[in-house]
Formats: sequence, C-alpha cells, structure tokens
Amino acid sequence: MEKKRIATLSFNDGTPQIELPIMSGTLGPDVIDIRNLAKTGMFTYDPGFLSTASCSSSITYIDGDAGHLYYRGYPIEQLAEKSSYLEVCYLLLNGELPSEADSEKFEREIKRRTMVHDQLMSFYKGFRRDAHPMAVMVGVVGALSAFYHDSLDISNPEHREVSALRLIAKVPTIAAMCYKYNIGHPFMYPNNKLGYVENFLYMMFATPCEEYAANPRIVKALERIFILHADHEQNASTSTVRLAGSSGANPFACTSAGIAALWGPAHGGANEAVLKMLDEIGDVSQIPKFVARAKDKKDSFRLMGFGHRVYKNMDPRARVMRETCYEVLAELGLQNDKLFEMAMELERVALQDEYFIERKLYPNVDFYSGIVLKALNVPLNMFTVIFAIARTIGWISQWNEMISDTERKIGRPRQLYRGPVKRDYRPSRERE
Ligand code: ACO
Repeated sequence: MEKKRIATLSFNDGTPQIELPIMSGTLGPDVIDIRNLAKTGMFTYDPGFLSTASCSSSITYIDGDAGHLYYRGYPIEQLAEKSSYLEVCYLLLNGELPSEADSEKFEREIKRRTMVHDQLMSFYKGFRRDAHPMAVMVGVVGALSAFYHDSLDISNPEHREVSALRLIAKVPTIAAMCYKYNIGHPFMYPNNKLGYVENFLYMMFATPCEEYAANPRIVKALERIFILHADHEQNASTSTVRLAGSSGANPFACTSAGIAALWGPAHGGANEAVLKMLDEIGDVSQIPKFVARAKDKKDSFRLMGFGHRVYKNMDPRARVMRETCYEVLAELGLQNDKLFEMAMELERVALQDEYFIERKLYPNVDFYSGIVLKALNVPLNMFTVIFAIARTIGWISQWNEMISDTERKIGRPRQLYRGPVKRDYRPSRERE
C-alpha cells in the first residue's frame, strides 16, 4: 500500500507542530490539506487564491505550464475538432460522451425547452434600450428562478437535471432577445428545426420579414467558440457560482451571479476590451506606442487579450481559436481589413517583445475570439454575452458537482483583519 504523505508545519514561538496530510489527484500537483490548521486558531492568507484549491473536482483539468486543457479527460483540441457543443454539454454534465441514442435524447430535451415564458418577455421593457446586454442577462437569467418553482429543490437530482436543461436551452434565447431589444427589432422565437448554434444565430440575425440561412462556416466558428469556452475549472465566475450555490441558492440565481462575475474586463469582458483597445490604438503605426505603455509600470494600460492567470504557455484554446480566426478572415475576405491587420501586427510585436516573453504573456483565447466575433458581425456589447451562453454549461456542471459533494460546506473564507482595534462610540459633538 502506498505510504500516506504528510507535511509537518512547525512554528518558532512554541506552538506545537501540526501534521497536514498531502492529497493527490489523478493529474496535477499534490495539495496540502490544511483543514487541521484551524486547531491552532490560525488561518492561511492567500489573496486571489494563487495557492489554494477551493474544492476537488472531476470535470476539467488544466496544466497551465504545459498548455493542456481537458474536459473530463478529453483534450480540448480533439473536442474542438471532432465534437459538437451539445455533445460537450452532455460530457461536462454527465461525465461521459453520449451514445448516439443519448445524444438524440439530450438534443430533444434541450430543444423542447428553448422557448421562454411569455411573461418573461415583458421584463425587457423595464430596461433602457441602450442597457448593456450583460446587465439585462444578469436580471433576466436570475428571474428564471421566479418561473420554475417546480425544479428548485436542489437536493433532488431530477430537479437539478431539469434546471440544467432549462438553462442550456433558454440562455441563448434570452441572450438573443437582449440584442433584439437593444436594436428595436421584434423578438424571434426559437426554430427547433435548427441546430443549437444555428438557432442562436437565427434568433440574433433573422427578422420576421425575410428568409435567413446562416453561413455553415460561421456556424462552425461559433460552435468552436462555444466548445472552447464551455468550462475552465475554478475561474472567477465558476467560483462565484459555487460560492453562491454553497448557501443552497437555486441554480438560476447562481448562474446570474456567474454572469455578473464574468462581466469584468479581467475575465469574460476581455474579448470586448480587446476590440475597444484596437479601436483606441487606431492604426498599425501606433502599436509601438501602446506596447510601450503596456510595459510602463506607471501606466495602468494593459494589452487586453494577453496574459492569463493559469496559462504560462500558449493557452490551448487560443491555439485553436487562432486557426479559426485565420479561417474566418479568409472565408469572409477580411484579411486586409485595417482592424484585423492591426490585431495581427499586435500579436506579432508582442510575441517578439522581451517583456511579454519573460512574463510568459501570450495572446489568450479572448484575443482571437474577439476578432472572430467582430468578423461575424456580432456587436461588441454581445461578445461577453456569447461567452456567458457557452459557459452556462460549465457553471451548471460545477454547481451540480458541488451540490452532490458529501464534503460540501457553505463557502465562508476568513480574513486578516487590519482595521481599528476596539474603541468606544462618542457623540458627534465630542469628535474632533
Ligand atoms: N499587458 C501588460 N502587462 C501584463 C499583462 C498585460 N495584458 N498581463 C500581465 N502583465 C504583467 C503584469 O504587469 C505583471 O508584471 P510584473 O511582474 O512586472 O509586475 C506580470 O505580467 C504578471 O501579471 P499579474 O497581473 O500578476 O498576473 P495575473 O495572473 O494576476 O493576471 C490577467 C492575469 C488578469 C489575465 C492579466 O494577464 C490581464 O489583466 N490580462 C488582460 C486582460 C485579459 O485579457 N483577460 C482575459 C483572461 S482569459 C479569460 O478570462 C478567458
């Protein structure tokens, strides 16, 4: 039998040493189980969770140094090339790839839930037409909790499954409605004859007045974006979903919390930020100036779409997306477009610059997905919404795993308090 490994923590102030078991996963570095530390009355300090595993999970594995990403053991490159988004959803949710019969059933179960309650549509009128669609998403997805009382018992696996199917099916409909409301077009009902991704494009770009058929290459490119963004282990938005869910909150409310966390420019908002940055740069001739600004510690400007907390090598998703990006630009005849030329030049300059090489700052998936979405004519403020559609399956799979975990506890981090020590209240006239 393998010997149990133990780490010993000793102190130089007479506090007795404690033993901390070392745990191993199936892949990746070992982790030190610090739960015994609470016996000393001390906590660990780890802002940003750089050294902390918040949970154990069997869903997604990342090796940031080697640039590997697996969903349930399958390398992302294989899934992006050979699989479909719905198959990936099934895999993330259930742990295995579906058989043909499972696949058909799963697709049927999703399709019959693509419509939203008629009453939900009136929510949109409460928003300004120019509201950011992510603001609308946070509200409307959270509001699903008020419509599906029949699937909110989180201890019931069937309820959890129905909620998951509802979220996968309805989030694209809600997202497309955000766009239609924004531009003043009528909402398009889902067309269940179409595939998942094609249906989303239809709800976004079709109108009741004309026939609409999506370009199959565009469908394929968007399907890739969906697959590549489906899950990414314990990132900020997924951790938010888990933390919200740890209190027993329902999956619609938790997903809404995930959407809020995703919105930030350091996370899902980066693809939108990339295009805004390219717009600000304005011309290829300005690139050296902006690269210099990104390197200047006194300047808060950063190159959006570069760097990643976990990947210190090329993000494998970025590699696949880069390929798709070039394919889409060629298909749409956009290789010589000024904006895309600028993006490609920025990529070239940054990849050769010592500052970026030293810090292992590679273009990330958002750099390329932003460019692809722009080429597909997706409006800028919908970029992060598309990320949210794709990531819904990751959030719900991680939430489901957490609820089923026998070690589940409400997430409640501690802190290092640095505020005032105890002091007594004084009436205002006595304050200086
Ligand atoms: N441009 C310029 N310098 C950068 C950048 C950048 N985009 N990213 C990191 N650096 C520098 C930092 O200034 C720091 O330099 P220093 O060591 O001299 O102080 C060093 O690289 C390390 O950066 P940290 O901020 O410590 O790295 P962290 O892991 O905390 O941040 C993050 C990762 C937030 C993604 C960061 O790289 C960033 O802000 N990138 C731009 C935003 C972006 O593209 N986000 C998308 C992430 S991918 C996704 O959500 C799917």
